[in-house]
Amino acid sequence: MTVDWNDSYLTGHKEIDDDHRTILLFINGIEYDVKSGANVNTLRQSISSLIVEIEEHFKREEQVMKELGAPLSSIKKIQEEHQILLEKGSLILEELYSARLEKNQKDKCLEIMKNLEQWFVLRITEEDMIIKELINKTRSTT
Ligand SMILES: [Fe+2]
Repeated sequence: MTVDWNDSYLTGHKEIDDDHRTILLFINGIEYDVKSGANVNTLRQSISSLIVEIEEHFKREEQVMKELGAPLSSIKKIQEEHQILLEKGSLILEELYSARLEKNQKDKCLEIMKNLEQWFVLRITEEDMIIKELINKTRSTT
């Protein structure tokens, strides 16, 4: 199962939406690696790239929220959440890497990928929509 881009994921902020598309491509790429039996070094590299991508994305989101005038308390809350999410995302990816090292763990890897996809979609649809709200608020007051 791969997750396709869906316009309901759009926040209306171009850079953030581009990031989300890119992250989705990375996740689908990793799923392809797992399915096609790519070697562990390839997988390790894809995982590292995804983590870097997510880290940069979270920083960008915090910056965008500041620019859109989000209250400091919300920004602080998001920063804390991002830290926890990054740890959780990294754990899922570590688990994936370890499972891939074992033989015949394809099913387990695909199960882990499903968790990662759900984690990502939930993140966008439930949490990142604050950016959409902030944009709408800015528009209606200017
Ligand atoms: Fe995001």
